[in-house]
Amino acid sequence: MSRSAHPAGPRHADVLPEGRYPGSTAPPADLNSLDPQVWAQTVRRSADGAVSVGGLDVRALAEEFGTPAYILDEADFRARCRAWRSAFGEGADVYYAGKAFLSRAVVRWLHEEGLNLDVCSGGELATALDAGMPPERIALHGNNKSSEEIDRAVGAGVGRIVLDSFQEIARVAHAARRHGRRQPVQIRVTVGVEAHTHEFIATAHEDQKFGLALAGSAAHPEAGGGPAAEAVRRVLQLDDLELTGIHSHIGSQIFDMAGFEVSARRVVGLLTAVRDEHGVELPEIDLGGGLGIAYTAEDDPSAPHDIAKALRDIVTRECEAAGLAVPRLSVEPGRAIVGPTAFTLYEVGTLKELEGLRTYVSVDGGMSDNIRTALYDAEYSVALVSRSSDAEPMLSRVVGKHCESGDIVVRDAFLPADLAPGDLLAVPATGAYCRSMASNYNHALRPPVVAVKDGAARTIVRRETEEDLLRLDVG
Ligand code: LLP
Repeated sequence: MSRSAHPAGPRHADVLPEGRYPGSTAPPADLNSLDPQVWAQTVRRSADGAVSVGGLDVRALAEEFGTPAYILDEADFRARCRAWRSAFGEGADVYYAGKAFLSRAVVRWLHEEGLNLDVCSGGELATALDAGMPPERIALHGNNKSSEEIDRAVGAGVGRIVLDSFQEIARVAHAARRHGRRQPVQIRVTVGVEAHTHEFIATAHEDQKFGLALAGSAAHPEAGGGPAAEAVRRVLQLDDLELTGIHSHIGSQIFDMAGFEVSARRVVGLLTAVRDEHGVELPEIDLGGGLGIAYTAEDDPSAPHDIAKALRDIVTRECEAAGLAVPRLSVEPGRAIVGPTAFTLYEVGTLKELEGLRTYVSVDGGMSDNIRTALYDAEYSVALVSRSSDAEPMLSRVVGKHCESGDIVVRDAFLPADLAPGDLLAVPATGAYCRSMASNYNHALRPPVVAVKDGAARTIVRRETEEDLLRLDVG
C-alpha cells in the first residue's frame, strides 16, 4: 500500500523485496496502459503508440521545448478548479494553495474560474498581484511573515491574513493602522490532530511550528484555555483587526476524512467558547488543504463533490449541536487541483542492468526537478511515452543525473525491457510541489512549464539558462 506514515508523502519499498517485485505488486498486465486516475485528463496513447496531451504528441513537445519539461494540461487544471468550485457552491470559498505551483498564467486561470488564492510569501503575493488577482481574493499565510510582507499585503488590501503567532497580531495591527485599514484576519489553530492517510495521532502534531494550540495542555484538548483562545482575546481588543474566523490545516496527502472531522469539531468548539466568552459568533471557518491525489494506481482519492459534502456535513452537524449559525466555510486545496494536471517529460540517457537486481534508467533531470521521492519517499509511476512496446516488463529504478545515489525519481517501476537511450519517459502527477520545490543543485537548470490546450502549447515558465545562473553570481 502506498499510503502510510508520512505527513507529506507515502513511504515504502526501500528494500528490494523477495521475487524482485516492488512490494507485492506484480508487473501491470499492459505496460502501455495509462491509468486515468494518475494521468491528466487529455492524455491519450495514439494509434501509433506515442502519447499525446491536449492533442499534442509528446515527441513534438520534446522537440520544441526540450527535456526535462513539466507538461501541464490547462483544460484539466480548469476542469479541476470548476469541480472544486461547484462542489463547494456559493456558500463557500475555494482558495488554491499557490505553494503547490504558482505562475502568472495559473493566477489568471484561477481568477477566470472563480477561485481565490492562498499565498505564503512575498514572492507568491507579488506573482498574484502582478497577474491581476483581486487582492480581496487573496489570503496570506506563513508562520514567520516578515514585517515587509505584512505591510505589502495590508497595503495591497488582501482579503485575509491568517495569524500564526502572538507577535504577528501586533505586527498586522500595526500595519493596518499605518494603512488606515481594518484588516480581516483569521487565527490559525493547531487542533492536536496529525493526519496520516489512515490514522491521526492526537497531541503529537502540537509539537510543530504552525499555529496556536487550541488545547491548554495536550492532555486536555478542550478549547478555551489554550493559546488560541488567548489569541482570540487579544485580536478582539484591537480595532485595527477584524477577526473573521478560525483556520486549521492538518496535513497533506490525506485520504481519510476522520482527521478533518476531529479538526472541525475542535474548531467549532473554539467558536462556541468564543461566543460564550465574548458574545461574538465568528462568521468563517477554514479547514485548510491537504486532500490527497493518486500518485500510483493504488491511491484512490475521493471526488471534490464527496469531500465537500463530508466537510459541510461535519461543520453543519457540529454547529447545530453547539447552537451556532453555520459559518462560511473555506478550503485550500493545492495538490488536489494542480497535482494530477502535469507530468514531467524526460529523455532516457543511460541504462545499467544490475544482474539479479534491477535496471537503473537514468534520465536528464532528477532530484532538482522532483525532490519529493528523496525527501518524502514519495511514490510515482512512470511510462514510456514516445512509443508503445510489447517487450517484457523490466524492474527498473528511474534515477536522475545528480551526483548522489539518493537521486531517485521513481523508486520501483516496470518499464519495457527494450527501453533504450533516446526514449521519452513521463512521470505523471508532478504538477504539485515539483516545479515549486525545484532547485539548482549541481547547477541544474530548472525545467520549463509548458501548458497545452486544444492542440496548442505555450511556455508559461521558461527553462532556466546558464545566463540566469550566472546573473546571480556576481563574481
Ligand atoms: N493550506 C495551508 C495552510 C498549507 O500549509 C498547505 C500546504 C495547503 C493549504 C495546501 O496543501 P495541499 O492541498 O497542497 O496538500 N511539499 C510537500 C507538501 C507541503 C504542504 C505544505 N502546506 C509535498 O510535496 O508533499
